[in-house]
Formats: sequence, C-alpha cells, structure tokens
Amino acid sequence: MGTDLEQVLVSKEDIDAKLAELAALIDKDYDGKDLLIVGVLKGAVMVMADLARALSTPVTMDWMAVSSYGAGTKSSGVVRILKDLDTDIQGRHVLIVEDIIDSGLTLSWLLSNLSSRGPASLQVCTLLRKPEAAKVDIDVKYVGFDIPNEFVVGYGLDYAEKYRNLPFVGTLAPHVYGG
Ligand code: PRP
Ligand code: MN
Ligand code: MG
Repeated sequence: MGTDLEQVLVSKEDIDAKLAELAALIDKDYDGKDLLIVGVLKGAVMVMADLARALSTPVTMDWMAVSSYGAGTKSSGVVRILKDLDTDIQGRHVLIVEDIIDSGLTLSWLLSNLSSRGPASLQVCTLLRKPEAAKVDIDVKYVGFDIPNEFVVGYGLDYAEKYRNLPFVGTLAPHVYGG
C-alpha cells in the first residue's frame, strides 16, 4: 500500500462476502422477473462486474455516466449526464448499482430522472454509504457497508481519477488532498 493511503477500510475478502450476501437477496427478490441492472459510471464499474457475476438471476446490464464531483473531494450537487442509458426502461425492473452514496445528491437526482421514465420498479444497490454525510434522505434497499465520513478510494472510487483500480477500499491520507 503506497504512502498516499492511510488504511484499508474494507478488504477484498469483505467486499466479496458482502456482494455474495447482496446477490442472494437480489436473486430472491427478483426471482422470475426480468431485471436490468444499471451501473453508474465510472465508480460503479467494479461493483457491477462483481455483483453481476455473483447473481444467479439472468440480468441485462446498462450504464449511465453522471458526474457530480469533478476533481474535488466534495459533492457540488451539480449532476451532469455524460452518457444516458441505451435501454428504454419503461415497464422494466431496474436496479441502480452504485459504489457509494455520500451526500445522496447524485442518487436523488438519478432516482427522480429514472422514475419519470416509467419503470415497473426502481431500487438501489450500493456497496458503501456514509450516513453522516447524507444531505437527502433516500430509501436504499441493498446497502453493503455504512462507513464513517472519511474520504475513501479504491474498488472504483477515485480521487482525481486515481486509485480506482485498488482491489480494496481504503482511506486516503489527508496530505494527498490537502487535509
Ligand atoms: C461519486 C460516486 C457516486 C457519487 C456519490 O461519483 O461514485 O456516484 O459520487 O456522491 P453523492 O452521494 O455526494 O452525490 P463521481 O461524481 O465522483 O463520478 P465517478 O463515479 O465517475 O467517480
Ligand atoms: Mn460515481
Ligand atoms: Mg469520483
């Protein structure tokens, strides 16, 4: 682990075990249904890839790219669509897959955007959530880990586009982001 990282917060083993648990719940809840999982680029790439492979339910996959952070460490609340879905979700069972819910602003915006398209159902699965950072109250059906309000990177999560490829979630040393 480089000196940019302070500590491992969620290990690869913990992530694997949690995704297996969540996948079992999702398999049960969507049994016999046609499920579309929607990954939110870029952060959710790792969760999508591993969750999808942990599921037994056949799914289709689509992606949206939105960004609310830019290069900073704080959510701006300004959400931009960089890439929309390829799929028409009207009448579909849709599960949004996220790496982290921080302020909740990205997801809150995404939920209202996607629900206006008339899906049969719309739920959320996130690997991480920071309860202390929440600015909006969102009902999230599948949550991996509630974590403290620290800046975390790895397993899809970036700081200025770096660290996404770490196989675990770690905290960033304050000197890296001027803290
Ligand atoms: C991060 C993260 C979530 C969102 C959570 O994405 O992946 O999508 O911020 O923050 P919020 O709950 O405060 O809105 P980001 O905008 O950094 O884009 P990225 O996934 O491409 O890194
Ligand atoms: Mn993201
Ligand atoms: Mg980011």
